[in-house]
Amino acid sequence: MDADPHDDGWPQAGRTRLIMKQPLALLGTGEPNEEGSMLARLDPETVMMMGDNPALPRMPKAPRLLDFFRLRFQDLTCRHLLQSAKLALDAGMEEKVVMACLLHDISNGALIRSDHGYWSAQLVAPYVSEEVAWAVQYHQPLRYFADESVGYRYPDGYHRFFGPDYCIPDYIRRDAAIARAHRWYMTSRLVTLHDLYSFDPTVEIDPEIFTDVIGRNFREPAEGLGFDTSPVAHMWRTMIWPNNFL
Ligand SMILES: [Fe+2]
Ligand SMILES: [Fe+2]
Repeated sequence: MDADPHDDGWPQAGRTRLIMKQPLALLGTGEPNEEGSMLARLDPETVMMMGDNPALPRMPKAPRLLDFFRLRFQDLTCRHLLQSAKLALDAGMEEKVVMACLLHDISNGALIRSDHGYWSAQLVAPYVSEEVAWAVQYHQPLRYFADESVGYRYPDGYHRFFGPDYCIPDYIRRDAAIARAHRWYMTSRLVTLHDLYSFDPTVEIDPEIFTDVIGRNFREPAEGLGFDTSPVAHMWRTMIWPNNFL
């Protein structure tokens, strides 16, 4: 059946819709996935969630980057991205650095935290320059290594997050070394530099101040993020409809 999940006439309207949590969010937590009991509840008036979940703000039909900031991203990540980008903007950084700062942790907003630099780079790669996507990916490994030449130190926050005896994994060491030797090293390094002091919960930044930078550095697809034919469209759709059963 052809039905638009944005349409109020979507056939699931009026039915009880069950949400099964993402398997990845449950692994290792001891929380049951309730798969069996949920499937046992199904009947003509009780179905699995598909399409718009009324508990979430409705996204426009052709969503743009800032719609995800306003309507989907968790507050902490939203503030952090905006504050990092503003810091870079105020420091007179080139637009590619400001853009990379605005996107650097984007997967944490509403998708996934593990290996967030790699996921974030993949999410935005079709829409930004190769250099911006590269800087986003490599900010993750570079965060663990100091660069005195620009005044970047190992983040105090990482001692708190991981403990003082945290052992940096081999793939992070390897990728930081790759980044260090690359011609775009400084672009990614500047992302880590403006990433450092960006967790002030009292500072409100209007995302619209980045409209022009986004306009020049992020190719919004005409169909909207999630509905173009790029290899990452499904990742944006997953954030639009995060509770879809399949
Ligand atoms: Fe990060
Ligand atoms: Fe960050």
